[in-house]
Order: sequence, then C-alpha cells, then structure tokens
Amino acid sequence: MTHPDSVTALPRRVVVTGATGKLGRAVVAHLRDVGVDVLAVDRAAGGDPRDVGGEFLQADLTDYGQVLEALLGGADEHGGRVDAVVHLAAVPAPGLLPNAATFANNSSATYNVFAAARAAGIKRVVYASSETVLGLPFDTPPPYAPVDEEYAPRPESTYSLNKALEEEMAGHFCRWDPELIMLGLRFSNVMDVEDYAQFPSFDADPRLRRWNLWGYIDARDGAQAVERALAYDRPGAEVFIIANADTVMSRSSAGLMSEVYPDVEIRKELGEHETLLSIDKARRVLGYEPRHTWRNHVS
Ligand SMILES: NC(=O)c1ccc[n+]([C@@H]2O[C@H](COP(=O)([O-])OP(=O)(O)OC[C@H]3O[C@@H](n4cnc5c(N)ncnc54)[C@H](O)[C@@H]3O)[C@@H](O)[C@H]2O)c1
Repeated sequence: MTHPDSVTALPRRVVVTGATGKLGRAVVAHLRDVGVDVLAVDRAAGGDPRDVGGEFLQADLTDYGQVLEALLGGADEHGGRVDAVVHLAAVPAPGLLPNAATFANNSSATYNVFAAARAAGIKRVVYASSETVLGLPFDTPPPYAPVDEEYAPRPESTYSLNKALEEEMAGHFCRWDPELIMLGLRFSNVMDVEDYAQFPSFDADPRLRRWNLWGYIDARDGAQAVERALAYDRPGAEVFIIANADTVMSRSSAGLMSEVYPDVEIRKELGEHETLLSIDKARRVLGYEPRHTWRNHVS
C-alpha cells in the first residue's frame, strides 16, 4: 500500500488547457468522472467525436489577456472561482513546427498560464513537462537505469529545452510565492487503447523504441496522475516521471539494456518488463499506481 506524502481533497473547479488534445481529452473526462468542475480550454475546438463535451472555452494561450480572463473566471458563461490549473496545451513534440515556432508557442503559453495563475491567486498548478528532459532520444546513453528525477535535465531538442525551462520557471514562481504548489509531470509517450495494436511490431528491433527507453503512458493513467497531483498539498515545485509500470516490449527490460546500452549501470533488480523510466517517486509521493497495460489489450 502506498502512502503519499501529503494529500488533500481535490480542488472544486479546475481549468484544463490543451483540453481537446490526446492527453487533455482523457484528463477532462477523468476529472469530470471524479466530480471536479472542469473548464476545458483549447485554441482548437476540433471536429473529433471524442472532443470534450461540457464546459469549453476556445482561447489562445499565447494571448495573456485571454488566459487571465479564463483564470479569473471572467469569460461570459464561464464564471466562478478557479481553484487549480492543469496546463497541458503545447505543440507536443519536436519537429512538428519549426523550432522557433514551437518555442514561441510553448514558452509564451506556459509563461502566461503561470503568470495569470499567480495574478488570479490560484495556488495549485499541474503542468505537462516531458520525458524528453531525461535526455531523449538517448543518443548519449542515460547516466544509469532506470532513469529518475535525480539528475539535471538534459534537453536535446528545442521542444525539450522549453520543457526544461518551464520546470526552472516553476521553481522561481514558487520562490516568489511560498504558498504555491507547482507540479511538473514528465509524461512518457502518450497512448490511447487504439495505439496498442502496433506494439507487438516493436519487438523485431530493440533499437526502434530505445529513444525513450521503451516507455509509454496510457492516457487514462496519465489522467490518474493528474488527479493525484491535484490532491497533493505541499507547497513548492516538484517534478515526477509519469509512465506505465511496464515497457512497450515483450523482451525483458534487463535484456534490452544489456543489448542496447551494455555499459549503462543498472541500479536495481529489474522486474521482467519493468519500466526503465522510474515511477518510484510518483508512487511514493503522489500515490500514483498505473492501472493499465497494453498487454491486456493485445492478444
Ligand atoms: N504526446 C506525448 O507523447 C507527450 C509526451 C510527453 C509530454 N507531452 C505533453 O503533454 C501535453 C499534451 O500533449 P498531447 O499529446 O495531448 O498533445 P496534443 O497536440 O494532442 O494536445 C495539445 C493541445 O494543446 C493545444 N494548444 C497548443 N497550443 C495552444 C495555445 N497556444 N493555446 C491554446 N491551446 C493550445 C492544441 O490545440 C492541442 O489540442 C503537452 O504539453 C505535451 O508537450 C506529450
């Protein structure tokens, strides 16, 4: 049984940014399921049938005025005091846009959310960082395995550089306001159930998915991690790796490491398919425990 360091009741009303995205849809649905009043925010209303129903505000987070209005509860039809923000909106990977465009969007959106939350007196911010800060795509081998939160960020792309800067920025916002709680969730590669059909094909070549040490996060477990983070009650800035408990591979984790990274120190006895992206801190501090595995969805 896990004993989270510090938990409290869930906040009543929460703004979720990036709400129509892959992770955002799962987070909004999950938080609504557990009784949180969610204002879903995204610049894309989207045409996907899985788009969030319920309360939705279309806003561009690179515009500070729009962010401030949303977080102050000032937008028409979307009033009410906001108790917490879950900031997921971003260009979600390197190489989708030119680097400067990724940086401009993601850095200004995140600064605006952090600053508007502060201006609105919101004390709880959970934001999407990324596994990339651990050194993906690991052309330089990881310092040890499983990787954890104990070494300094090693961004290798502009996208990741921005995530590392967001983590740094959160630390300074918390220094400015000792009551603030800012939790960065370093999500692994987000997967929906439909994505699992391709997983068996990864086995043929262990190098295919070495770029993130064969990790993944089921969007529903990602949503659970967000819920756990929203219930965490100790002021300050923290980061957590959020991955599933296993890898995407049928081969053993120890075998993968000895074949692909033979010189990397293995710091613990590894379970057969144990994740190489350590979730020990999230388990210990947040009480996060993944409920899903791709292995239950592929015969
Ligand atoms: N997908 C992954 O594998 C992965 C892995 C690690 C971290 N992350 C992070 O998790 C978060 C969610 O990723 P996702 O996979 O759901 O991505 P996604 O692209 O499916 O969703 C991101 C959403 O953010 C919105 N958005 C982007 N810029 C915006 C802006 N300026 N104003 C308003 N909305 C804006 C987009 O419209 C989109 O709906 C991102 O921060 C991403 O960097 C994703």
